[in-house]
Amino acid sequence: MPNFQQMEQYGVQRIHHIYDKDTGLKMIIVIHDRTLGPALGGIRFYDYLSEEDALEDAMRLARGMTFKNAIIHKLSGGRLSYGGGKSVIMGNPNKDKTKALLLAAAEAINELDGEYIGGEDMGTYDSDMEVMLERTKHVAGIQETHSKGGKRGGGDPSPITAIGVFEGIRSCLTYVYGTDWMKQRKFAIQGLGKVGFSLLEYLAVRSMPSNIIVTDKDTARIAKAKSEYPEINVLDPDHSDEIFDQQCDVFAPCAIGGIINDGTIKRLKCKIVAGAANNQLREPRHGEMLKELGILYAPDYVINAGGAINVSVELQPGGYDHDRADAFTRRIGPLLTQIFRAATAKNTTPEKVAGEMAEMVLKSRRDLNNVD
Ligand code: NAI
Repeated sequence: MPNFQQMEQYGVQRIHHIYDKDTGLKMIIVIHDRTLGPALGGIRFYDYLSEEDALEDAMRLARGMTFKNAIIHKLSGGRLSYGGGKSVIMGNPNKDKTKALLLAAAEAINELDGEYIGGEDMGTYDSDMEVMLERTKHVAGIQETHSKGGKRGGGDPSPITAIGVFEGIRSCLTYVYGTDWMKQRKFAIQGLGKVGFSLLEYLAVRSMPSNIIVTDKDTARIAKAKSEYPEINVLDPDHSDEIFDQQCDVFAPCAIGGIINDGTIKRLKCKIVAGAANNQLREPRHGEMLKELGILYAPDYVINAGGAINVSVELQPGGYDHDRADAFTRRIGPLLTQIFRAATAKNTTPEKVAGEMAEMVLKSRRDLNNVD
């Protein structure tokens, strides 16, 4: 069981454990940092092996949200200002998700009185947020057709996330090759879910489908991709692991976290790692290893910030505005270029530079608060 020392290491502000006897809800809400505003982060519904795994995942993801939201604060010139948090519900979303359980989770969030704002994440959807709205207003990422207190929802944030990843990839290409010309570049995408599939659609237009290789654990996803883009190359789901061995310019992880690790790093034959997945580096030292191998890494919480931008825009007093979310998301590319330049100048990793940038945003706000 994680101890207080471990919680201190993650720097979390507060952790709430919720058990609801009637519905069987087992939920952990982690408030990581509220310096910039209410803690904003998705509600993950996942069949964790143990309570320890769930808590550790929640703490890690919540810390990531603090950094991501600090970067969004910077990108938006302070207009979008949220802290970092995350919640996890233990269970299999396909079997255990009931309306009563979602409502119990909504009540738990409501009791925090706005300290935490939830949204969709792995295992939850905008339709679930819709259900939760019955018991709390502190959820975001609601369906576009819904009008919450007269305000429109932002819907599924994944398409905007994919725009940010695509723009980020363009910046990476320009940094490495001096041009974002994609026609002759090769791409490998791991995961064809909500973001990965959208990314494939963008890349297939700008590059050549025959230069793209994709993989997913789910056969149906592969079949869908192949039927829409017959020229793309696909890996059999039983061999999805071979995505790490592909000779390519850009490897785009869009599935799970921790995939850049001691086992995979030496297999990579790419120049760039740039994708949507959260927590791609198993440990910070893997960022150093990528640098030593001459592989440019786009820090995950910067390149995948589009989804959180979408949700933050929805929370603004004027409600959701697609053009605004799109415009802020398109700033991800230039910010990455700035990060890459600083990393080269300081002979350090882009991950470290992005971390320092986020810390700087947090420090400035803390200093301001202290003066007040
Ligand atoms: P998703 O659940 O829709 O898609 C993930 C896909 O990856 C699924 O099709 C799954 O079958 C596949 N997959 C899982 N393990 C795999 C493996 N080992 N090899 C190959 N494929 C595998 O998730 P979504 O929303 O597309 O998100 C993808 C990643 O991006 C996640 O890590 C998520 O946390 C992150 N992310 C998503 C955002 C969003 O707006 N949806 C925003 C920011 C980050």
